[in-house]
Amino acid sequence: MPEKQQKAWFFVALLNWNKVKNDRIMPWKGEKDPYRIWLSEIILQQTRVEQGTAYFQQFVTRFPTIHDLAKAPDDVVFKLWEGLGYYSRCRNLIQTARFISEQLSGAFPTTLEGLKQLKGVGGYTAAAIGSFAFDLPYAVVDGNVLRVLTRVFGVAEPIDQRLGREKLDKLAQELIDISHPGLYNQAIMDFGATVCKPKQPICSDCPFAGRCIALKENKQSFYPLKSPKKASRNRWFYYLVLEHADGFYVRQRTQKDIWQDLYEFILIESEQVQSEVEITQPSYWGLTKKEFPAIKLNVSDEMIHVLSHQRIHCRFVHQVVKSTILLEGYHWVSRSQFDQLPFPRMITRYLESKIQ
Ligand code: ADE
Repeated sequence: MPEKQQKAWFFVALLNWNKVKNDRIMPWKGEKDPYRIWLSEIILQQTRVEQGTAYFQQFVTRFPTIHDLAKAPDDVVFKLWEGLGYYSRCRNLIQTARFISEQLSGAFPTTLEGLKQLKGVGGYTAAAIGSFAFDLPYAVVDGNVLRVLTRVFGVAEPIDQRLGREKLDKLAQELIDISHPGLYNQAIMDFGATVCKPKQPICSDCPFAGRCIALKENKQSFYPLKSPKKASRNRWFYYLVLEHADGFYVRQRTQKDIWQDLYEFILIESEQVQSEVEITQPSYWGLTKKEFPAIKLNVSDEMIHVLSHQRIHCRFVHQVVKSTILLEGYHWVSRSQFDQLPFPRMITRYLESKIQ
């Protein structure tokens, strides 16, 4: 159960700010339907509100209830998710929708523990759904909340280490207004996003200005503290876009990584950069000169896709071929089938650049 209330001044000031100054409008705000709340929270887990809003609208229009989502084929859901990245979120979304629809007759769990048992729902998302839908008294702790609390209370431990995080989780739970947990949780996120922003916070408009440690010390940009970043891993992805009879050779990825279940062209991955001469040889792709004539080739420039701990360098070699080719693991799809398939962002970026 939540800690005893200790710091009422904080929620009083926050909820007053929320009532008088908060003009942020988002389609899931004030929502009580746990399905819609869950959908919005999964979309927003690693996505900015500006980008996530359109996806949320498309999902609820296409799948108004959890049963509609549960019944949809995987590829259809992945296609709608395309561009949001971190596709394990989408896989968990499908699994959880089917679990709730089939095993729980469409009813979401109404306790924090029950919510946490859903795939893709961690402590943060469980507190968000629980407080918004069922008024459970649990504080959400996301990036916005961490920034607000470290600044106002001068918490100088790194937020990505256990000690700092535990301290902040405890503090967040002491601060929440247990009489209005949903309202409070939405208000603190909105406050972090619009006033206590990462850069150029609007301290002149802040209800905590009189107490804020960061402001007192003029150290707003010092908070929140993070441990030094790990160096990024570089990977080079070379794709062969083999076009034949108005269609392409593709495969569905099965590796357990962030692109699992998405489709891709013929891929060779390398830990080092390869030259253009290298990647335009038939032998590089394990093909004969007859299968891959290497004439009228189109080789893209390198496109870099930045992930949290990786930089993916991609190049695409486009070749039109006359005869059918047998390629283990890959199969030919017509252009109209191709258009329905979900692809990683690095491939859709290439396809978009080809169209323009
Ligand atoms: N990020 C995650 N959940 C959010 C919410 N409910 N409102 C604004 N930003 C969010």
